[in-house]
Amino acid sequence: MCGIIGYLGQHEAAPFLVDALRRLEYRGYDSAGIATVNKGALDRRRAVGKLVNLSDLLVHMPLAGKSGIGHTRWATHGEPSERNAHPHKAGPVAVVHNGIIENYRDFRSELKEMGVDFVTDTDTETVALMVEAYMRDGDSPRAAVERLLKRLEGAYALAFLFEGEEDLMIAARKGSPLAIGHGEGENYIGSDAIALAPLTDKITYLEEGDMAVLTRTSVEIRDADGQLANREMREVKQDNVRVDKAGHKHFMAKEIAEQPQVISEAIGHYFGASGHQIRFPSDDIDFTTVSRMVLVACGTAFYACLTAKYWIEKLAGIPVEVDVASEFRYREPPVGKGTIALFVSQSGETADTLAALRYCKDKADRIVSVVNVPESSIARESDVALPILAGTEIGVASTKAFSCQLTVLLVVALEAARQRGTITDDRLADVTSALRGLPSRINMALDNEAVVETLATELSEARDVLFLGRGQMYPLALEGALKLKEISYIHAEAYASGELKHGPIALIDGNMPVVVMAPRDALFDKTVSNMQEVMARGGKVLLITDKAGLDIAGDGLWRSIEMPEVEDLLAPILYAIPAQQLAYHTAVAKGTDVDQPRNLAKSVTVE
Ligand code: F6R
Repeated sequence: MCGIIGYLGQHEAAPFLVDALRRLEYRGYDSAGIATVNKGALDRRRAVGKLVNLSDLLVHMPLAGKSGIGHTRWATHGEPSERNAHPHKAGPVAVVHNGIIENYRDFRSELKEMGVDFVTDTDTETVALMVEAYMRDGDSPRAAVERLLKRLEGAYALAFLFEGEEDLMIAARKGSPLAIGHGEGENYIGSDAIALAPLTDKITYLEEGDMAVLTRTSVEIRDADGQLANREMREVKQDNVRVDKAGHKHFMAKEIAEQPQVISEAIGHYFGASGHQIRFPSDDIDFTTVSRMVLVACGTAFYACLTAKYWIEKLAGIPVEVDVASEFRYREPPVGKGTIALFVSQSGETADTLAALRYCKDKADRIVSVVNVPESSIARESDVALPILAGTEIGVASTKAFSCQLTVLLVVALEAARQRGTITDDRLADVTSALRGLPSRINMALDNEAVVETLATELSEARDVLFLGRGQMYPLALEGALKLKEISYIHAEAYASGELKHGPIALIDGNMPVVVMAPRDALFDKTVSNMQEVMARGGKVLLITDKAGLDIAGDGLWRSIEMPEVEDLLAPILYAIPAQQLAYHTAVAKGTDVDQPRNLAKSVTVE
């Protein structure tokens, strides 16, 4: 959700800025821009749309200078246009921003009274204009920024550049992530480690309320009270932040294919190389005394939580409530002693999930998070952060992070059951050995690719698609529908298959494919009855099941995908593969932008 980069170095800044923006483009791609200071003069280039438009522009209109800031935008205030693109400039000030300035209307009124004209529809422009106004009052750049930060409400990561200041960059963060990169005679600012990766592996994450003043040879960080702050400098392994497609056509294809490997890493992390002993920080989470768990997340991560509800209630007998973070945080739900609050987030920066976490602090017994980015705000603000170890996920549609979230949530359910004595040693050993075999089952599921690709060509003709699942497969049906709509733009909906005849069955006709996800488990016969009700009304059913399922219910289907057999509990993880492949190949068949679908961005750091 907007990416920020800043470079204060020994070389021309523009190529570094554009290269970093390429790695940040997953955060937003409505427009991009850079500004530099060259021989004291502040100048900028901006272009609407993908980054390629900015790099094309720079070929014809290069920008010199060894200090610069850059931005890739996901529009909040104001349509995507060159006029609204960052950096915003006011006199001697240029600024890039990720977040939302909630009190920007107050600043606009104030500025209007000063007779200032606005040239954009953005909240960010007021930041540049206010700093300019303070500098007109006689403030230094630093004093002007400090003065404004005291008044800013909302969420921001900001980077400033100033005319006549070749060796100065100022950064600030509250509510949106920002990191400082340390080089030799150079320093940098970036939204994340991915942006800074080729420049440096030495990174300092700013804390809430921090302001940093950078020159080429110094970084001074002050906390929200203006006190000097000593923030830890970390070494980031370059492997963890490498961004390439490894020969695949899209990041999404690469990330789907990586699942056997990353899931096996997650399993190795939580179980070691052998045995079924869970390596879990159990001293930190006592499941024996809790009376309920609250699981909160957004989007795909929310569907992972919905699946976990089935597992935790079934295996450990703990009542589980699941909510989307944007609803939970404003509902003022009662959260008290005896509650574990658990938050799931790939990025660890989703604004609503973070706000929900903060709401539960000092109320719940324990704040637990299941995250992919260990340095993220959600991880850092939790009592216990459980890593999912999916590696960097760039495709906007989450794939490997989802299956790794599910894997770790199943470990949580197993550990809760172990602590509470609701699972026998033998059953735990069985599930663990099935988990160890999961990566090879996923490989087998991935081998269905050619079948799915052909099917997807047919699916790409559909206007609407329905997904059905029962029990633990219902959240997966929701995820399958979300994946399809977000990257192929085909309208898709999911229902618990038992709900169908309470209304949605009216939608069934010969045109709308109905995808049924049903391994041959205890609920299979029930799901098949619902499927038959669809077929009796002329519906076209695509059944995703195993050989045993197809033997029983294979007649009269429109299409089918045969899955490997798997331990019942693991089916949602395994069946995520055809759901993802179906969405991917349908999108490819339709020619949509798979990795950067319209209107979306990864890491939603605004409400
Ligand atoms: C969909 C998708 C989103 C995210 C959601 C939460 O494919 O990726 O629905 O799951 O925005 O993001 P995180 O997990 O970063 O909190």
